[in-house]
Amino acid sequence: MTVVAPKVEKEEEQVVNPWEVSAGKGGIDYDKLVDQFGCQRLDAATIDRVARLTGRPPHRFLRRGLFFAHRDFNEILDLYEKGEKFYLYTGRGPSSEALHLGHLVPFMFTKYLQDAFKVPLVIQLTDDEKFLWKNLTVNESKRLARENAKDIIACGFDVEKTFIFSDFNFVGGAFYENMVKVARCVTYNKVVGIFGFSQEDHIGKISFPPVQAVPSFPSSFPHLFSGMEQLRCLIPCAIDQDPYFRMTRDVAPRIGCQKPSLTESRFSPALQGESTKMSASDPNSAIYVTDSEEKIKMKVNKYAFSGGQDSAELQRELGANLEVDVPIKYLNFFLEDDHDLEQIKKGYGDGSLLTGKVKNLLGDVLYEVVKRHTRARAQVTEEMVDAFMAARPLPNMFG
Ligand code: TRP
Repeated sequence: MTVVAPKVEKEEEQVVNPWEVSAGKGGIDYDKLVDQFGCQRLDAATIDRVARLTGRPPHRFLRRGLFFAHRDFNEILDLYEKGEKFYLYTGRGPSSEALHLGHLVPFMFTKYLQDAFKVPLVIQLTDDEKFLWKNLTVNESKRLARENAKDIIACGFDVEKTFIFSDFNFVGGAFYENMVKVARCVTYNKVVGIFGFSQEDHIGKISFPPVQAVPSFPSSFPHLFSGMEQLRCLIPCAIDQDPYFRMTRDVAPRIGCQKPSLTESRFSPALQGESTKMSASDPNSAIYVTDSEEKIKMKVNKYAFSGGQDSAELQRELGANLEVDVPIKYLNFFLEDDHDLEQIKKGYGDGSLLTGKVKNLLGDVLYEVVKRHTRARAQVTEEMVDAFMAARPLPNMFG
């Protein structure tokens, strides 16, 4: 007699760290991630509070749940309510020339935060990180950092409140002193536990985390924050960067520094669906800021995973599954008007709108975003890049 073993469905583990994001079947389980990482959910009450304190409507990335988690964001709001200020810190690893819309998300959001709270901002370009992790030369990493700085500047940051720096050019002095203070507090075991390094990883990777940690401390920027060593820091980032800042927050009190607060976003789903994110290395997974109108519309029509039915008849009868539909997810993040979005969702869900129509609407919306960005980037000169990247005091940074 043969015994057939029952088929065991092996559950794929989701992996999320700064270098790898892979989901199980149904896409990233963000609830699980919040619990696993120990961050807090960004709830409606906090979003209302942002609106109240800033006197402007919350950014659609907040209203629509793209930024969905945080660490001690409430503490930043508490002190802001009392009339105190803070500073913003975000960054980018310049690994590719061509940015996609997912890359712009944290910068668009940071720009809103800078305008709404009227606070200074430091932006770290980790050209050293990309040298260490990717097969790039030092010079190529530095060149990419400068090119990416143009895309970042094109998001509209205020040069009187913003300092952009490349690690290769800026690390040293007080910044480096903070790095070694952090490094002394983190054991090899600890860094392996947080980042999952293996015995075979070179020590460049293992020693990198302090570089990304210390911009969280105002004392790393004496030209900006001298005499303001207890100024609080808020970091808008995607949730895959959380390990760096878990480490930073753990170390901060031990070296006499304030813990940074965070607001954390989901990943931008690939056109093919939630189970992967937009990728710089798969041109069909993402809309790049350099894509032409035709290319954007072609990608949306051809690759965006649809929750609509297979035929117009069935769609009219059953309506679309909005839960899995990628065009709806993208409209959710990029269509500003709440009322228009609701109308589209209603019509698509009840079958009166067909997939082709929704994809056309999305193509128009995304092309608008890309067109605006392309125009703004064309205005960014080398002199402007130099101005943003000069280590200088910012006398009007809280104005
Ligand atoms: N490690 C990030 C990346 O590869 C770049 C980065 C540096 C960053 N500092 C940051 C991102 C702070 C968010 C917040 O893209």
